Amino acid sequence: MKKMKGIILSGGTATRLFPLTHTTSKQLLPVYDKQMIFYPLNTLVRAGIKDILIIVAPREAGQYLNLLGPIFDRHDVRLEFKVQSAPRGLAEAFILGENFIDNDNVTMILGDNIFEDDLSSSIKNFRFGGEVFAKAVPDPERFGIVEFDAKGKAISIEEKPKKPKSNYCVTGAYIYDNRVVKIAKNLKPSARGEIEITSVNQKYLEMGELKVNILKGDWLDAGTFDALLEASRIVKEKNISKNFDPKIEKAIAEFNEEMKDFSKKMLIKSK
Ligand code: TTP
Repeated sequence: MKKMKGIILSGGTATRLFPLTHTTSKQLLPVYDKQMIFYPLNTLVRAGIKDILIIVAPREAGQYLNLLGPIFDRHDVRLEFKVQSAPRGLAEAFILGENFIDNDNVTMILGDNIFEDDLSSSIKNFRFGGEVFAKAVPDPERFGIVEFDAKGKAISIEEKPKKPKSNYCVTGAYIYDNRVVKIAKNLKPSARGEIEITSVNQKYLEMGELKVNILKGDWLDAGTFDALLEASRIVKEKNISKNFDPKIEKAIAEFNEEMKDFSKKMLIKSK
């Protein structure tokens, strides 16, 4: 049986969060009491994924290594890092991740997406094709939108439609079989110059192999000031960051202890 690997796409330019993101990556900004990236990491780790590729923008690579480099060494989760030299689109994750994915399946999650739902059973039970998670939104013109037939089966997906056929957008977690690498490599950039994840989903839909799940809980895409604030509020209210996988809780606690020890030693040395 194929393994499930994980990718967190954590690059981008985060222009909507300037000037905050002049000094750090969006996905390293705090959401309540944790850096944003821990939320998608938790989604993958609690689904039992042990190999995770984190794709980052060039100027922030060092910050990611400082925080996450050795954090899971003792917890049986292997992190790899890869630089995306420019934000060429979400589907580039599968091209940059080709060697990492190898012959396996992959769950890709955006570094600024927080899911209240536990996606573990979809990830663990995945066998073939593509699987995505939809959520009703008030502003469907901004997203990839799924149209359903009367039986609730997905029949079309459109990227940022002017006349949306539903309010259900495709959120930032995607499970694909190994064919996704080939599909991504054959995509042409869209009018906005990106290789679109919507095109990948359309391909699986055409093949009759795209499953669309509807999310029950909150889904947050913390890409604007209001969304970032709202994300912290919901995370606190729903105890989301207090219910992380024990591996992550433990890794963060150990990291904090090591940092405290290190600070003490530096203080003694400087006296
Ligand atoms: P976006 O929010 O669409 O883009 P952005 O983060 O650069 O922000 P802004 O629109 O404010 O300029 O990206 C969604 C997520 O995907 C986010 O976590 C960044 C990531 N991303 C990449 O890592 N590489 C890419 O090529 C793109 C387009 C996005």
